[in-house]
Amino acid sequence: MKKVLVTLLTALCLLTTILSGCGKQSENKSESKIKIGVSAYDMYDTFLGQLVELFQSFQNEDVEIVVYNAAQSQQTQNSQVRKMIEDGMDVICVNLVDRTDPTAVIDAARKADVPVIFFNRELVEGDIGRWDKLFYIGADAEQSGVMEGELAAWACITNKELDRNGDGMIQFVVLEGEAGHQDAIVRTEASINTMKKQGIEIDKLGYAIANWNRAQAQTKATQFIEDYGDDIELVLSNNDDMALGAIDAYEAMAIPRNKWPAILGIDGTDVGLEAVKDDKMVGTVYNDKEGQATAMFELACVLAKGGSIDELSDKYTIENERYIRLPYAKVTSSNIIQFIGR
Ligand code: GAL
Repeated sequence: MKKVLVTLLTALCLLTTILSGCGKQSENKSESKIKIGVSAYDMYDTFLGQLVELFQSFQNEDVEIVVYNAAQSQQTQNSQVRKMIEDGMDVICVNLVDRTDPTAVIDAARKADVPVIFFNRELVEGDIGRWDKLFYIGADAEQSGVMEGELAAWACITNKELDRNGDGMIQFVVLEGEAGHQDAIVRTEASINTMKKQGIEIDKLGYAIANWNRAQAQTKATQFIEDYGDDIELVLSNNDDMALGAIDAYEAMAIPRNKWPAILGIDGTDVGLEAVKDDKMVGTVYNDKEGQATAMFELACVLAKGGSIDELSDKYTIENERYIRLPYAKVTSSNIIQFIGR
């Protein structure tokens, strides 16, 4: 009996020790709040602004998130990174202004041993290999182009009236994002190639760079309409904001809806989805900002605690120990309900 009592007491003591240990651990954890710093290339970019705001909304009592806007200046971003390091951020998330120029960011972070998660603007492979605490979260640019091409092909096949001049070919124009951005050139090429593969005869009238921007796209689209008028049967845009700029151009020129070409975008921003719902845009490709923000938050928390990206391998496909890419999805009026208000 005595022996049983002693064993029970010992077990009780052990349990108390474990429980008090856990309490202490969580006390320590709350003392050492995780600090995540973010520098965005331009908070006025519609998609990017929504992505970063979403990320910031994950801030909670254990995690502090500080956001900086680099306002399209790499120099400004470099100083923001230095400031974040001085302020003791555990991890920094960088949406590079110039994706070919991450040297100052990498050097500063490496010197201070602060991991960096790059996002949305993909640095070149050679750069990410420069230190083992550099990561990238984004999406596969080619996949978005293929999906946009599939949507465009589907629009041409299901609506023969798109070929207004009946020449058996679809005359189209392209609105492109920034020169040198992975989501510009790759999306354009992939969407055009996909249309061809699906048997659509196409005829490119022109292309213009509008830097992801709605107002710039309106100016460029107005020029296209002046130059080619009714000949334009399709507008392929590298993102929703520029597709909306084309819509603005048609509306400002008071061209009736039944005379518009098919207009397609990529992103599924709130305004983009609205345009699909209102039947102004034929479709868009959803750029999963919720998935990207969540993956970035989870990875930042793991890295802040000294963990490894492998801890997320149950949930995400991790490429080369460094990359997490979230899949795109096609959006048309028939499935839009799944995307609005995500
Ligand atoms: C793209 C997005 C664009 C723009 C750009 C900024 O992925 O489709 O709308 O936000 O990123 O880097």
